[in-house]
Amino acid sequence: MSGGREVTVRPEAVETSGSTDPADRDLRPQRMAEMIGQREVHERLGIAVDAARKRGEVLGHILLDGPPGLGKTTFATCIPRELGTTLQIASGAALSAPKDLMPYLTNCTEGSVLFIDEIHRLPIAVEEFLYPAMEDFRVDFTWGEGVAARTINMPLRPFTLVGATTRAGLISAPLRDRFQMREHLDFYSVDELAEIVRRSAARLQMPMDDDSAVEIARRSRGTPRLANNRLRWIRDYSTSRAGDRLDLGITRQALDMQGIDTIGLDSFDRRYLETIQRVFGGGPVGIEAIAHTMSSAADTLESDVEPFLLRCELVIRTPRGRQLTSRGEEHLGGKPVSGGQTRLF
Ligand SMILES: Nc1ncnc2c1ncn2[C@@H]1O[C@H](COP(=O)(O)OP(=O)(O)O)[C@@H](O)[C@H]1O
Ligand SMILES: [Mg+2]
Repeated sequence: MSGGREVTVRPEAVETSGSTDPADRDLRPQRMAEMIGQREVHERLGIAVDAARKRGEVLGHILLDGPPGLGKTTFATCIPRELGTTLQIASGAALSAPKDLMPYLTNCTEGSVLFIDEIHRLPIAVEEFLYPAMEDFRVDFTWGEGVAARTINMPLRPFTLVGATTRAGLISAPLRDRFQMREHLDFYSVDELAEIVRRSAARLQMPMDDDSAVEIARRSRGTPRLANNRLRWIRDYSTSRAGDRLDLGITRQALDMQGIDTIGLDSFDRRYLETIQRVFGGGPVGIEAIAHTMSSAADTLESDVEPFLLRCELVIRTPRGRQLTSRGEEHLGGKPVSGGQTRLF
């Protein structure tokens, strides 16, 4: 951004950033240049932001999708900083009627950003209310009832909607089509995560050798949020048990103690795999049956647990349900998946 224009990201917006994890706040990159990985998405968004800023135009609406902890909220909070504009944050789950959305829409200044997290959870009435707001910067109300009913149009200041979702498949086509850009965030490579770990360690004033950084990266399910969480745990462990020392051995002990295995799965991930194997003979089995057996919600399994396991090909989705792969069986057997250290991607 040129000329040090004041960045006016509303403080309450950052507080309600859709994540309950306080660690996110301290370690979250503040500018797009500080973000690591997601190179193609980063570049495309960078171009759109740069062009909007140079032409003094309002940035088009952006939909970000991908599993939790990969940087959707981070992009959504960095973009308005790059534009030098304000940000408001709402959550799809909390917008139960059009009237809940109104304050956000009327608060939008020209070119400001409205971020709606978990946008797949918007009820249909709110979604339909949003269509003209996105397309023509206008909202339509019906006033009165029966023959006396009148429709009132209210103009809005042009704004940018950034929507985020962990469940792109649940977004209706009319809503999806109203976003000029749709970007999918994928899991991070071990190298990218190791770089994030090194930067976060520096910010937390922790010593960090390369072997430990790579070990944490390998055991973080391709997810920056988890890498940062694991790092904080290792810091606690090192303070409490090792006089603030840190090396590969201490890193491994700390991660083992949390039940995180060699490829980064935690006990809940393994329970999901074990349920398919032990209870359903390896599958195929429907997601609802797995969820019931685990006393969990199918939605949580689909958004939080399965994407990484599918990505690692430990499990596959078939028309008849989920099925454990031979790789999944081997992993549960405790044997190395492909000879020694598993290289995931
Ligand atoms: N590209 C990135 N570079 C560095 N750190 C990142 C990146 N993406 C995410 N993080 C870290 O992971 C945390 C979670 O990211 P977040 O944007 O909240 O994920 P999401 O909204 O997709 O669930 C952030 O607070 C930040 O510390
Ligand atoms: Mg988020």
